[in-house]
Amino acid sequence: MVRANRKAKGVTRRKPGRKGVAPPGKGAGSRAGDTISLKIDGRKRKAKPGQTVLEVAREHGIEIPTLCYHEALTPLGSCRLCVVEVSQGGRTRTMASCVTPAAEGMVVKTNTEKIRAIRKMLMMLLLARCPDVGVIREKARDLGVKKVAFPRQKEDCYLCGMCVRACEEIVGIGAIGFVNRGHESEIAPPFGVESDLCIGCGTCTTICPAGKFDLDKVFARRGMHKMEEREGVGRCGVCETYYARK
Ligand code: SF4
Ligand code: FES
Repeated sequence: MVRANRKAKGVTRRKPGRKGVAPPGKGAGSRAGDTISLKIDGRKRKAKPGQTVLEVAREHGIEIPTLCYHEALTPLGSCRLCVVEVSQGGRTRTMASCVTPAAEGMVVKTNTEKIRAIRKMLMMLLLARCPDVGVIREKARDLGVKKVAFPRQKEDCYLCGMCVRACEEIVGIGAIGFVNRGHESEIAPPFGVESDLCIGCGTCTTICPAGKFDLDKVFARRGMHKMEEREGVGRCGVCETYYARK
């Protein structure tokens, strides 16, 4: 799995709940108030400045598979499943549509033979990594991937980064992040040491599409300080769960 280390150029961070809204004038090759014209799968489409190719495609009912995209979060481009063919300025490239801003004159193909082959290969890698994760199995089935030509692992996290982005962008904490590289990559507190930043809100567990990121892991495997070991925490009188008071 490829992990993007930088935020998408020209793709602006949106406030949760404001789908497809980005400050005007930030789209590639556009001015405030402009409408962008592009072609997707042979048909002319209009886009608002700041919209990504994925957003425009979805707005017009064109299905592009995704595994790391969430409309409330800044796109990361980590799973690459949303790859499409983009022709612009005489060049054709395969690009992740969730991090590619729509641009004037762009020609996009979302479902070519090449694109289907790339998605299948990516899906095989993801299925080999997380053979027991429901969302991965489901997506693999949708894309016609039945066999995996790679050694199977038993990971429960496919590194979509939604938990990391939610903690930073929605909660405003940034208690967890990507650590290590390649096969060693995982989600953990910075430097792999216990984090005092975590407030135990559980947003990471709620947003995790793999459904495997539970609070026990936040406190144990992810190395967070246990709530009961911190100052200023309270305890629910009914379920006896610890929580942060402020
Ligand atoms: S723990 Fe869940 S949300 Fe976080 S990166 Fe892994 S799969 Fe994504
Ligand atoms: S949805 Fe994962 S890279 Fe675009």
